[in-house]
Amino acid sequence: MSNSGTWLVELRNIYHSYGSVPSLNGASLYIKKGEIHALVGEHGAGKSSLASIITGDIIPASGHIIFDNQPIHMHQSQNSLRHGVKAVYQKVLLNRNFTVGECIYFANRIVNHGIWINRKKMEQVASNLFMHYGIRIDSKSQISSLNISELTVVEIFRCLQTETNLLIIDERLDYLSTEHYHIIVKLLRERVSQGLAVLLITHKIEDIHDVANRVSIMKSGKIVVTDDVRNIDKFSLLRLTYTQFNRSQDIDEEFRNFNNLLKYNEAILRFLPVNLLVTDLQEKIALVNNSCAEYFNLRDDYFHISLSEFLGSSNSDVLDMLREALHSGEERTYYRVKMITPQGELITNIKTMPIRDMNMVIGNIIIIEDISEFEKLQDKLILSEKLASIGLLAAGVAHEINNPLEIIYNYLVFLKYNIADDNLLKIIDTIQGEMTAISDIVSNLVTFSSKSITELELLNIDSILKEIIDLLKFSAMQKKIKLNFLAGTEQSRVRLNRNEFKQVILNVIKNSFEAMPEGGNINISTLLIKIGTAPFVRIVVSDTGPGIPDYQLKNIFLPFYSTKKGQESNLGLGLSISYSIVQKFQGTMSAYNNPEGGCSIIIELPAI
Ligand SMILES: Nc1ncnc2c1ncn2[C@@H]1O[C@H](COP(=O)(O)OP(=O)(O)OP(=O)(O)O)[C@@H](O)[C@H]1O
Ligand SMILES: [Mg+2]
Repeated sequence: MSNSGTWLVELRNIYHSYGSVPSLNGASLYIKKGEIHALVGEHGAGKSSLASIITGDIIPASGHIIFDNQPIHMHQSQNSLRHGVKAVYQKVLLNRNFTVGECIYFANRIVNHGIWINRKKMEQVASNLFMHYGIRIDSKSQISSLNISELTVVEIFRCLQTETNLLIIDERLDYLSTEHYHIIVKLLRERVSQGLAVLLITHKIEDIHDVANRVSIMKSGKIVVTDDVRNIDKFSLLRLTYTQFNRSQDIDEEFRNFNNLLKYNEAILRFLPVNLLVTDLQEKIALVNNSCAEYFNLRDDYFHISLSEFLGSSNSDVLDMLREALHSGEERTYYRVKMITPQGELITNIKTMPIRDMNMVIGNIIIIEDISEFEKLQDKLILSEKLASIGLLAAGVAHEINNPLEIIYNYLVFLKYNIADDNLLKIIDTIQGEMTAISDIVSNLVTFSSKSITELELLNIDSILKEIIDLLKFSAMQKKIKLNFLAGTEQSRVRLNRNEFKQVILNVIKNSFEAMPEGGNINISTLLIKIGTAPFVRIVVSDTGPGIPDYQLKNIFLPFYSTKKGQESNLGLGLSISYSIVQKFQGTMSAYNNPEGGCSIIIELPAI
């Protein structure tokens, strides 16, 4: 375990007993320079005894003590002070008759080289120091008039006035007021960044992840675990520290089994393929499983972040909702919650569950399920159902309209043969023209019916697309539109009806033409992909037009949905007919806005 150069203190295999009562039973502890090392354990585990070994207040029966690579002779108890070890014990050791200023200043004796300074001056120096850190304690106050939090602050400052390499704080941080706690933690961090080491004996396991870099757990006179705080979550730490073992059995063995069980449980949580996070009662993140960390782009330092930081300012509604749930102490489930994440806008189902230890709530589990894909599928399903019912209706209506149309048409032909008046003949021609338009619409409607049977053949998509593009090149040029084709599926074929497929592509390209009256680019590409294990051809038609507003994206495949109303030729049937055709070929069709502008229509068809 040696790591020379980085260890400030090495305690190896220390044994000690008070009379016949053993207090340290082969304890080994390694403290680094520039770290806050938390030491936790039940009452009587041996924490204070181990601290007293370092300060030299008690002498071990056996073991080794090494300070800064120098072995220490066991019986030279004052040695530790020369190595700059200071301690703030559970018991207050300040002189009750001194003022705060005197206490802090007398610690500075060595620095002052014995030069006498009057009390006023001492109190002034202490007052300046307190002001710098925002501490509201009067430096002229008598020690006997201070409360325990103030006494602790004075003692810690007193220790840090002289050259100190290691500061041991034995359970005293637990007595600090919230205000003092934050100031002292800031002070310790500042000093630690300059190389100070702190051994923090504490029962406030809740705060360890915020304060300490590493933690050691002590049990029956032994250090049983030392680890980086980030490797051990709060709940495991609580369990490991306070779980009772049968003392008659081998503690190491039992502890190892218990630790393994915890790690095993934690591993299950970590690798569960759902987004799971655990918060403590202060709404801080205590654990994030791998799936969630990856999904939300969390780095290693998520331990210190709060739920509100995790959700970010754009999810304040979600935060309010979760807060209410977390404080309710009950299980809650929320459906179809919108969340803005690094993955974009998601639709999620969120479940919250309190974690209980006995009857006390000690934290909450939050499970975030991304149902965006499922919602999209659902939308597709609704759309196909709508189209199917329209198909059924359309087929019936078409049949009913076609019969009288046919009769009217025949009468018109008959009239034409019996009328000589040119004006009337023109009118009849117009009527015939309009009737042809009605007939076209009706036959378009029939396309919605999945029952409309068409002949299928095995076709190469790339070559049909080339044909279509050649056909359109001239009119594209006139419209200042550049048609580009990137073929990627030369070898694969699709079972299609040629004319219907052409109709799909023409509808899509026609829309792009109409969307870019001033000209632009249309890029058509094909790619062979796998959906599951099945091969599909993906055709992407992408333009540089204005794109489709998000709120319209859901509607564009609906029949008679058009934003070009007023222009007779646009009925809003182009995409809905195309969708029905693609569906008939067992394919799918969808639309997206390109991040760089314009939109893309994507058609995926099963390939052979
Ligand atoms: N490339 C595109 N750029 C911008 N908007 C589009 C594009 N393609 C489709 N749209 C939108 O989708 C709507 C529906 O398209 P669809 O082709 O079904 O109907 P239409 O073009 O309006 O009429 P029709 O196709 O019957 O002539 C359009 O009105 C338009 O608002
Ligand atoms: Mg159209």
